Amino acid sequence: MATTPPAGRLPLPELAAMKRRRDKIVMVTAYDAPGARFAEDAGIDIVLVGDTAAMVVLGHEATTVPVTVDEMLFLTRTVARQARRPLVVGDMPFGSYQVSDEDAVRNAIRFVKEGGAGIVKLEGAGPMTSRARAIVESGIPVMGHIGLTPQSATMLGGFKTQGRTADAARRLVLDAHALEDAGCCMLVLEAVPAPVAARITAELTIPTIGIGAGPDCDGQVLVYHDLLGLTEGHLPRFVKRYANLSREIRDALEAYAADVRTGVFPGEEHTYAMPAEELAAFESE
Ligand code: KIV
Repeated sequence: MATTPPAGRLPLPELAAMKRRRDKIVMVTAYDAPGARFAEDAGIDIVLVGDTAAMVVLGHEATTVPVTVDEMLFLTRTVARQARRPLVVGDMPFGSYQVSDEDAVRNAIRFVKEGGAGIVKLEGAGPMTSRARAIVESGIPVMGHIGLTPQSATMLGGFKTQGRTADAARRLVLDAHALEDAGCCMLVLEAVPAPVAARITAELTIPTIGIGAGPDCDGQVLVYHDLLGLTEGHLPRFVKRYANLSREIRDALEAYAADVRTGVFPGEEHTYAMPAEELAAFESE
């Protein structure tokens, strides 16, 4: 299946060229139209409509597992409508690619046709390598994701750093090569020691995008709500906050509530008037 990207979209081969030039690739998650527009205006290269939506948008506690294909398609479509230059990655949720290659291809096609994604992402290697290959062979670019893979957090013993022993690190390097050989166009490395990510980045020809994987990856990704300070409670070590929007939002909502209760809002400048003669006629009735 051949897909033609809209005019103005960052061409996918440009990302490999960026790796060769050592230009860093910037990726952020987004889940709605304003987020997509802000990412576009900030010159972000890739927007990931991540299944973190389960937690940061849909209110599930500490798990990405419950989000459905239909929910992800709704969010992906919303983002794709507004993100014109960045590449849009649709994150395939748990259950949408684990069953079989055919099922994975069928759902990946939905992300492209119904969601407007240019790329799909799936987690894991091993049996998932064959899913990645099948999707690539159907004409859809695939972003791999290894290290901490939140959809299998239970199997991994929680949201824990991966690849901390020499054996586990070697397995990650092998997984990375297997996914590159399967045709993945990029690879997310989540919560792995920096030297392991650096080795994978040096050995692969496809770009690596790190999240908690140190500075040597070809690009970085953060979750929108984390970097903007919209996530409350515990944050992983790898998050850097660039704003504290939850405080600003709370302050603004409290000020609004106080203004309504005290009659300060709405003021005259927020109120519509009518011509004096019309008002007089109206009041005389
Ligand atoms: O779903 C997501 O937001 C992700 C990123 C953390 C890479 O997979």
